[in-house]
This record gives sequence, structure tokens and C-alpha cells, in this order.
Amino acid sequence: MANSGSRKVWQWIVIIILGILIIIQFIPADKTNPNVSKEIETPDQVKSVLEKSCFDCHSNETEWPWYSSIAPASWLVAHDVNEAREHINFSTWNKYTTEDRLGIIEEMWEEVEEGEMPLWYYTLAHPRAKMTDEDKQILSDWVTRLTKKTSVESDPDPESIE
Ligand code: HEC
Repeated sequence: MANSGSRKVWQWIVIIILGILIIIQFIPADKTNPNVSKEIETPDQVKSVLEKSCFDCHSNETEWPWYSSIAPASWLVAHDVNEAREHINFSTWNKYTTEDRLGIIEEMWEEVEEGEMPLWYYTLAHPRAKMTDEDKQILSDWVTRLTKKTSVESDPDPESIE
């Protein structure tokens, strides 16, 4: 008898959890892809790395994954993307001064070198976004050239970091 009582309790718990999961689907996540006003300028190789590993969060060209349609994952993903865009948005490069841009570029390498970016849990769901040694080399070379002002021909002219 005690057994069937506790089974009832469990059934109710499951029903309540399912009910909550259904109800929260009606609370929308703040998922937008605003216009790109000016994209960061980099050599193609660098751009590919950024697109592959950073753009889902730090640009207005987010490819929203399937689980971003399901609450509560949707809220978490939208929160990360919105926060990432607030810190650095490669789609609104015109909003930064030259000094800001150089600061951001330097920070980009710092975060990658320390393994802080891209966020580790994002790379679990997007293994392709993980930075390979080659990706890191490409990014690091570019950052070094720009911050030491020894740019090569494939870089945008220093004015356009601007
Ligand atoms: C899954 C989303 C996501 C991805 C992918 C991602 N970032 Fe971030 N990034 C964030 C969030 C959220 C923050 C702000 C909070 C923090 O610092 O953890 C941030 C912060 C940063 C900062 C620090 C900015 C500051 O003002 O302190 C830098 C630099 C940065 N990211 C660079 C990159 C680079 C470079 C890549 C690609 C190699 C990348 N991020 C990929 C989400 C992401």
C-alpha cells in the first residue's frame, strides 16, 4: 500500500514538471538578428575562423540552434548571445573608435589563448567551433601584426581597423 501511495506522488511530480515545461514554452526568448551595419574587416582566413568560432554570439548573424527554440534552453542561449553582443559585436564595427578596435582585437587573442573563448559549453554542442592549433595561429599572427603595426598586404589598411 505504501508503495502505491509513493507511486502516486511520483506520478504527480512528473505531471507537474511536464506541465511547467509546457507552460514555459509560451515565454519567448529575446532572439533577434539585427541588421549588420559594418562587419569587422580581416583577411579571409581570419574571417573564416571568427565566423566558425565566434559569430554565433558576437555578431548579428547568429545561427540559432534547434535547442534555442525550446525553453529553458532558449532563454540561456539568448542571454549569452545578447551579453556577448553587448561586449563585442563584429557586425557593428562602426560603433567602435580605432582605439576600441585595437583593444578588442588584443582582447580577442587573450581570451582565446586562455581558453576562455569560445565558451566551453558552446563547443560541446558545436565541436566544429573549437579553435584548432591552426586557427589559433591564424588569429594570433593577425592580432600581433595589427597591434605591432606590421600589417601585411592581405590586412585591411590600418585606417579601416578604424
Ligand atoms: C556561446 C557564445 C560565445 C561564443 C561562441 C564566443 N563568445 Fe566571447 N563572450 C561571450 C559572452 C557571453 C561574453 C561576456 C561574458 C564573459 O566575458 O564571459 C563574451 C566575452 C568575450 C570577450 C571579453 C569582452 C569583455 O569586454 O570583457 C572577448 C574578448 C570575447 N568574448 C572574444 C571571443 C572570441 C574571439 C570568440 C571566438 C573565438 C568568442 N568570444 C566566442 C560569448 C561567446
